[in-house]
Amino acid sequence: MNPADIKSVLYTTAQIEERVGELAARISVDYRGEKLIVVGVLKGASIFMADLIRKIDPEVDIVLDFVVVSSYGSAAASSGVVSIKKDLDCDIAGCNVLIVEDILDTGLTLKSLMENLRARGPKSLEVAVLLRKDLGNEPVLKPKYLGMETPNEFLVGYGLDYDERYRSLPYIGILDERVYQ
Ligand code: XMP
Ligand code: MG
Repeated sequence: MNPADIKSVLYTTAQIEERVGELAARISVDYRGEKLIVVGVLKGASIFMADLIRKIDPEVDIVLDFVVVSSYGSAAASSGVVSIKKDLDCDIAGCNVLIVEDILDTGLTLKSLMENLRARGPKSLEVAVLLRKDLGNEPVLKPKYLGMETPNEFLVGYGLDYDERYRSLPYIGILDERVYQ
């Protein structure tokens, strides 16, 4: 990639690692001695999820699962309903479930996914999100575990993409407008 595609680095690798560690410590306390199904929303959450789960105390009995959701382009913003392109392998009825997501923008994607999963009767259902864009209004969803509140810019790296690129960057950067204009 062209280094000039990244306007600036918003969070360094070290800053991300420290914050992920803090979230993992809280999760470790909250679920100690319990089974926890960690549900990653592919593909964006994959890097965050991999780092997070390895920092959670092994006394939490973790099982991994994944979903792929697709929002219906800009129509999703009005309908707020996502379709599940790849569903869970597990039955989550009666289980503790933690959804792991990369970034909340309007929050509609996650809200819709939560409603879908809640209907399956989990014992508990919480969300861990690395980033939430500060849109200046009341968020539709308040995740129990939130990494950082970010400016309303297009972000890439650490799992986040633009047109499937930049996911492997070890930091989170602001994408230069030139790339998508
Ligand atoms: P909503 O609005 O439903 O959207 O919260 C969340 C989804 O939109 C994607 N998204 C981004 N992806 N950089 C990205 O790579 C961004 O800055 C960004 N903002 C939103 C993301 O896939 C998330 O699941
Ligand atoms: Mg994406």
